[in-house]
Amino acid sequence: MHIAQLGRQPELGLAELNQVYGRDNVVFLKDSGFALIKAPVGSSDINRLGGSIKLAEVLVKLPTANWREIERNLSRNITKYVGTIPDGKLTIGLSAHGFNIQPHTVGATSLRLKKELKKLTSSIRVVPNKSATLNTAQVIHNHLTSPSGREFIAVKDGPKTFLAITRGEQDIESYTARDQARPARDAFVGMLPPKLAQIMINLAQPSVNARILDPFCGTGVLLQEALLMGYDVYGTDLSDKMIDYSGRNLKWLHETFLTKDTYKLEQGDAMNATWSQPIDAVVCETYLGQPFSAPPSAAKLEEVRGNCNHIVSEFLRNIGSQVKPGTPLCIGIPAWRSTSGDFTHLPLISELKKLGYTQVRVSRDNLLYFRPDQVVAREILVLQKI
Ligand SMILES: C[S@@+](CC[C@H](N)C(=O)[O-])C[C@H]1O[C@@H](n2cnc3c(N)ncnc32)[C@H](O)[C@@H]1O
Repeated sequence: MHIAQLGRQPELGLAELNQVYGRDNVVFLKDSGFALIKAPVGSSDINRLGGSIKLAEVLVKLPTANWREIERNLSRNITKYVGTIPDGKLTIGLSAHGFNIQPHTVGATSLRLKKELKKLTSSIRVVPNKSATLNTAQVIHNHLTSPSGREFIAVKDGPKTFLAITRGEQDIESYTARDQARPARDAFVGMLPPKLAQIMINLAQPSVNARILDPFCGTGVLLQEALLMGYDVYGTDLSDKMIDYSGRNLKWLHETFLTKDTYKLEQGDAMNATWSQPIDAVVCETYLGQPFSAPPSAAKLEEVRGNCNHIVSEFLRNIGSQVKPGTPLCIGIPAWRSTSGDFTHLPLISELKKLGYTQVRVSRDNLLYFRPDQVVAREILVLQKI
């Protein structure tokens, strides 16, 4: 059993886990913002999940949420929990999620564990707790997921506690490189964050080796993440400039990350393009309309909303005639946030059946991705061609 720490928008991370591991195998732990995963988890899964920050293997579920009792269990079993240490050197860290305790309490437990571990090795170091939980940078810089490091985490679940050992931490540097070191970038088209691209691909659940189409590929972020996940990709866009940008970015990705160079890119209007087959899944962020730094007037909003609705509806009609029934789609469409935090959605959301799609319910709520200062949010729809 594993537990995953969910990212900034937990409902998106949770929907992603539901799709990847099966809804019956995923339980949200509300005290801590973690999710329990009861299905097998691979060692590289953390690199494919855009909505999880950390994956940890459960050591034991304790029938208590009392820190003293948790500490007692840790002290008694720590030499067993640590396992073998290849070169005799060990660094440990401890994080307490969902508990209302002070950093120095967690730190004191770590020092107790250090004393116990002196029985195993004389070279042991403890990462100091500035807060009750270590952050991603501390886990990475102290090599706590390497053979000579261990991060133990206690995750509160009501009156019980999961004790777990971190197996994977989101690779922040790689995300930054993928986002910022690409040769062709364009602020105006509003580039998709790589983590959201991964979430969208996982929400579609393409079959292994699927060929994924992005008909609004822009600078190619989604194609890039799909290639890194091992899929074949096909990107089209209305703009020749964007096709050129995607081409430069995917060439760079191939040279930097040794991804496949068998991708296909071509100019085309998603409302009437004819795409080459096979198309096993469609994943895209569609046209989002113009960017706004403040909520637009009612008239302006109606104009932009109507325009986006037309483009996305026509695209759905067109692609629907070119894919087999059962083909999965995950599309990001615009929704506009007012100052009071309400959303204006695209009208086509209530017309999906008429357009030839069933909506796959991957979450109880609407899935919306936005930063606190953004007016244009991305609404994520998971669909299946009827
Ligand atoms: C929001 S951007 C997608 C950004 C992309 N996901 C990225 O990360 O760079 C939307 C893209 O849709 C393209 N576009 C707009 N209308 C289109 C249409 N009718 N058919 C195809 N592409 C279109 C624009 O050129 C733009 O590149």
